[in-house]
Formats: sequence, structure tokens, C-alpha cells
Amino acid sequence: MDIKIVKNQEEGAKVAFEVFKEAYENGAKVFGLATGSSPLGLYEKIRQSSLDFSDRVSVNLDEYAGLSSEDEHSYHYFMNEQLFAAKPFLKSYLPDGLAEDIDAEVERYEKILQDNPVDFQLLGIGSNAHIGFNEPGTPFTQRTHKVALAQATIEANKRFFEREEDVPRFAYSMGLQSIMDAKQILLIAFGEKKAQAILNTVKGDVTTDVPASILQKHPNVTIIVDEAAAALLNR
Ligand code: GLP
Repeated sequence: MDIKIVKNQEEGAKVAFEVFKEAYENGAKVFGLATGSSPLGLYEKIRQSSLDFSDRVSVNLDEYAGLSSEDEHSYHYFMNEQLFAAKPFLKSYLPDGLAEDIDAEVERYEKILQDNPVDFQLLGIGSNAHIGFNEPGTPFTQRTHKVALAQATIEANKRFFEREEDVPRFAYSMGLQSIMDAKQILLIAFGEKKAQAILNTVKGDVTTDVPASILQKHPNVTIIVDEAAAALLNR
């Protein structure tokens, strides 16, 4: 794991963009993308760049079940706003939050991943070390699945909704194995709320209690953390 400790989020976005751009220039064709606040600065840098994605493909990590792509809380809406409107890809895939047949949707998405092997996967991390929506306890062999969100995740994500009751209880997510299949991974984490998750991910045992700890077994992972998120690493 290549751990890059940066001063603040602004510097984090700059360094993330350098890592991203290098992957782009080295010919990464399929980009696994993430939502949440952690990649916002990177997306801003990409929007401001001259990078062209008309011959590249994106596959998103996850989506809430029950929300349409037009719902402003959906990850599809987020991606349109933050990236796709300014930087259209040849093709962009996300799970369909309104799919009626859950099993068929899981199968459809897994097939998309098999047909479009991810070259570069971007990740945030939950305070319980979830990646995508792979909550503690998820088997490392898991591929795309429908998941029940952990209470900690509902709590963390309620800030984006009017009321806690409005946070969807289920989501579709690439599994841990799907994430590990990516050739290169970039994880971004900012703030003290992520410090314990980062410590456990980087220095703890590889255990399903800490979903992101599986990244220790991946040959090409970069982790960008600000000083607050890195605070427990040097103790
Ligand atoms: C959500 C998403 C994750 C994301 C995480 C952290 O639950 N499913 O993909 O990485 O939360 O979000 P943030 O970057 O806003 O802290």
C-alpha cells in the first residue's frame, strides 16, 4: 500500500488528480467510480481538466435501492452533477435503484463488470471501514449484491437527507471481490472520523470485521489521507 499523507483536502484533491491522470495516460479504459464527499475535490479537478472520456467507460461502485436516477439523493444523480454532465463517458454504468427483479439486477451488474474489467477503482471509506456498501461481515469473496445498510452507515449518510427515515435501508454494491479485481485502486479519506478505519485498514488484521483491510492483499493500492485521517497511524 502506498500511503500518501497530505495537509488538507485541497492538497488531497491535487494528489488524487495526479494519480488519476497517470492512470488515464497509461491507458486505463474502465474507471470504477465512487460517490460521497471524499472524491468531490478530485471530480472538480477532473471537470477543470482537459481529460476526455469519450472513449472510456465508467462503472459505479454502488447505488441506493428504491431511488430513481432523477432522485437528487441517488448516486446516479450525484454522478451526473459532479462528473458526467461536464465529462461524458462513452458508457457509464450504475446499478438501477428501481429494478423490480433484484436478482436479475445483481446478475446484470455483475455481467457488466465481467465485460468491463475495471482498470482503476476509486474508493471512499466509511467510518466502520466499509467500502462501496460492503459492511463489516461481508465475505471477501462477495461479488455484486444487494445489501442492508448498517446503522452506522445510515447515521453517517443521513446528513444528505431531510430525515433519517428517508435514508434508504438497502443498496446495490459491487462486492469486495469485485473491488479487488480492479488493476489499480485509489482510496481517499479525510477527517478524524476516518482515523480509526484507516488505522485498522492499513495496520490491522485482514478481517471481514474491517472490510477495507482486504486491500492489504491488493498489489496496487494508493491511499490518500489528510493529517486528521492519518492521526492514529504513527502512534
Ligand atoms: C457511503 C458510500 C461509500 C463512501 C462512504 C464514505 O456510504 N456508499 O461508497 O465511500 O459512504 O462517504 P464520504 O466520502 O462522504 O465520507
